Amino acid sequence: MNSRCLRTAIATAILASLGAGGFPPSPAVADDLYDLGEYLSGDCTPCHQLHGQSKGIPAIFGWDAESFVMVMQAYKEGERNHELMQTVARRFSDEEFQALAAYFSKQ
Ligand code: HEC
Repeated sequence: MNSRCLRTAIATAILASLGAGGFPPSPAVADDLYDLGEYLSGDCTPCHQLHGQSKGIPAIFGWDAESFVMVMQAYKEGERNHELMQTVARRFSDEEFQALAAYFSKQ
């Protein structure tokens, strides 16, 4: 299984549990979201550093989860214009944005 398959498998399992509980998720599901977010964050941290700014790339840690999801959707839908981040955002679903938000908001 390559890492993309693994990611899809994890996301599918978590989405199945989300479907049962809705959003905001129950504590157990929130843990799963956080774990998925931590896993997906590997796609972000090469550019976005854990602490402070790096080479002009803004820090994305400690954001309010709701604003975080809105910003990611704005990139995905082209409302925020930045080619690089638009390309990144298009690879993720709304549920994956929520997972990323759950993770980054707690750092
Ligand atoms: C290749 C480098 C790169 C990668 C990978 C990347 N980003 Fe970015 N990101 C940027 C840059 C550069 C900006 C500033 C864009 C702008 O000016 O609009 C940015 C901006 C953002 C912002 C808005 C920050 C602000 O202060 O307005 C968010 C949120 C964000 N990225 C989240 C993510 C997430 C989540 C991931 C991983 C899924 C990710 N980024 C992956 C380079 C990257």
